[in-house]
Amino acid sequence: MSLKSTELVLLFRRELELCRVKEDETVAVLSEAEKNVEYASAFMVAARDLGAHVFNVNLLPGRGAGLLGFGGAAALAGNRPAIEALKSADLVVDLMFLLFSKEQLEMQKAGARILLCVEPPEILQRLFPTTDLRERVEAAERRLANGHQLRFTNRAGTDVTYKLGKFPAMSEYGYTDTPGRWDHWPSGFAFTGAGETEVNGKVVMDRGDIIYPFASYLRDPIEFTIREGRIVETKGGLDAEMLRDYMASYRDPKAYGISHIGWGLNERANWTCHAQGVPGIGIEGRAFYGNVLFSTGPNTELGGDNDTACHLDLPMRNCTLYLDDDLILRDGEVMPEDMRAAGR
Ligand SMILES: [Fe+2]
Repeated sequence: MSLKSTELVLLFRRELELCRVKEDETVAVLSEAEKNVEYASAFMVAARDLGAHVFNVNLLPGRGAGLLGFGGAAALAGNRPAIEALKSADLVVDLMFLLFSKEQLEMQKAGARILLCVEPPEILQRLFPTTDLRERVEAAERRLANGHQLRFTNRAGTDVTYKLGKFPAMSEYGYTDTPGRWDHWPSGFAFTGAGETEVNGKVVMDRGDIIYPFASYLRDPIEFTIREGRIVETKGGLDAEMLRDYMASYRDPKAYGISHIGWGLNERANWTCHAQGVPGIGIEGRAFYGNVLFSTGPNTELGGDNDTACHLDLPMRNCTLYLDDDLILRDGEVMPEDMRAAGR
């Protein structure tokens, strides 16, 4: 589905209104070469319509951009004038995918709020953020911030425990009106991480669980044994074999660390998005209601030292999750009232 450019401007204007872009604020749009030209112009027109000052930082792709083509950080590296320009903005719309680079952290420290927008219009529109989603995701964030121990299980044999407290809890609900805060449109989950050596147990991904970056659904279970925050064994059929090979290809011991942990709360996101041929980077698989988003690799976004480039996001269905003594998910069903979507 493609939107007419006037419709795109209106859609982006609604998003910028959620981000509380006001008259005389400065909005910077970060884009790469000739990519997403339509998005860049539509955001600029939308921001100008709201009375903001607006400019576009357009860069060539960085050398050594990752396999997935997320070259934002590499493109900015060492480009001081561009970084300073972006730091001066109240809101940076990131169409390049800075990920959690030091350049992005520097902008956040300077007070810029950052909105990542890389999904196609169909998904931006269908999963347009709401204040209700924000409230439920923030309820999850508060619970994670106060938790000491997270444990989750499933019928395939998962039983794993995370000791919490070292890192902050974080939220993603699809817009940002808070200085220095990053978000991704669209989204809908909360997460935190354990200290580097404080995850122990077994994670058994079941059939139908998803592997990113492959965006594939498991045909057979994969069993990870985790000791002191590291995967020490990966067992299973072909899917496990492929994953072992993929992780080994990085030749990096840090690839086996455990990354963020949390759960999805977006009731409009579809678990079967890839089976339905939905384009995009897979936010639906990561955010669908009642998933556990298990992940491996880097923890720099939480403030940790693991900066491996090997990052897996592994959404799992039908899990039961406890935060201390509170039952959060029962077989994939969200239990606490403050996080439940209407009608669920
Ligand atoms: Fe992730």
